[in-house]
Amino acid sequence: MGAQAVSTLDMEDVHAFAFKVLGDITACQMGTLTAIADRLGLFESLADGGPATSPEFAVRAGINERYAREWLSAMACHGYVAYDDATKRFSMTPEQTFCLVDRDSPFYLTSIFAMEPTNWANVDLLTDAFRHGGGVPQARFGTEFWCGFERFTRTAFRNNLVQDWIPAMPEVDARLRAGGTVADVGCGNGQALLFLAKGYPEATLVGYDNYAPAIAAANANAAAAGLADRVRYEVRDVTAGIPGRYDLITTFDVVHDMPHPRPAMREIKAALNPGGTYFVLEFNFFGDLQRNIDHPLGIGAFGYSASTNYCMTQALAVGGEGIGTCMGEEKARQLASNAGFTQFRRIDFPNNPFNVFYEIRA
Ligand SMILES: C[S@@+](CC[C@H](N)C(=O)[O-])C[C@H]1O[C@@H](n2cnc3c(N)ncnc32)[C@H](O)[C@@H]1O
Repeated sequence: MGAQAVSTLDMEDVHAFAFKVLGDITACQMGTLTAIADRLGLFESLADGGPATSPEFAVRAGINERYAREWLSAMACHGYVAYDDATKRFSMTPEQTFCLVDRDSPFYLTSIFAMEPTNWANVDLLTDAFRHGGGVPQARFGTEFWCGFERFTRTAFRNNLVQDWIPAMPEVDARLRAGGTVADVGCGNGQALLFLAKGYPEATLVGYDNYAPAIAAANANAAAAGLADRVRYEVRDVTAGIPGRYDLITTFDVVHDMPHPRPAMREIKAALNPGGTYFVLEFNFFGDLQRNIDHPLGIGAFGYSASTNYCMTQALAVGGEGIGTCMGEEKARQLASNAGFTQFRRIDFPNNPFNVFYEIRA
């Protein structure tokens, strides 16, 4: 660009934008440091053991001191850990601990960083998909990605599923208390049903997912929780049919991911008992780009980037629709109506602005 063109620029805007970009580059670099922290339990070590200098922390965490010092310094500059210059000690505030250490907290987010190494590992495959179409198959995402995702969605199941979500549908709540039947479609590593099983001891619960490693993880989770006799998980592509009849069928963060959501929703409808309910959780995005640009939570780019890295892309890899993360309510209504459902109620929970919920009935 020539000097004349430069003189037409608003340099204040250029500075502001350049520092925004630099902030994003910093976030990418901090991503690797946070993923490593997750692998090595560094935040836990700092929070649990209390304030420490970098040599003290290195011994405690079992890592090289030079790396401990650089990691702690980066985290302190970034506001992920606290630093006291007088004692040269690092620590974690209760708020940092709530978001980065406490795995049961509704704001626990370190889990999402655990998904990032996989996104980077897939970047060549994704570049090819940009050039030629197709996608990156689900199997290329692997255990670290899926365990990260499981730890992320688990917190909402733990804190809200039995406490808020089901009671917001009194009929469903009553049926489950009386020993109703539940199928969780696209159950992933199975966490939702474990919390439902504990909250509704009389209910019969089954999870379906067509990704075999997820079902293996789900069954292992049920056994570890002592719930294997109450909760069962099966490898099944639900577009080929759902055995049994259910009072409640759930899809948690599944519809926009499904390569073929239309036949899946038809099968879900066919598998509901009379008066049964299909309960859907989706991310709180709009189907409309401008509305996502203006998103009140400022999360539009999170939606489209997650979609490009995984949600849309794994569906396109198998010739699916590739609806993508920003499905929006209107599309959800259309899909439900096309599947033959006639009742559709959106439910909002103020304590969970990141998701939207739909109660759908025949
Ligand atoms: C984003 S994950 C959600 C996992 C879980 N519900 C959670 O919230 O942690 C979507 C899941 O849907 C599953 N899925 C997609 N299409 C499916 C189908 N046709 N039949 C069964 N499972 C399917 C995928 O294998 C994946 O595990």
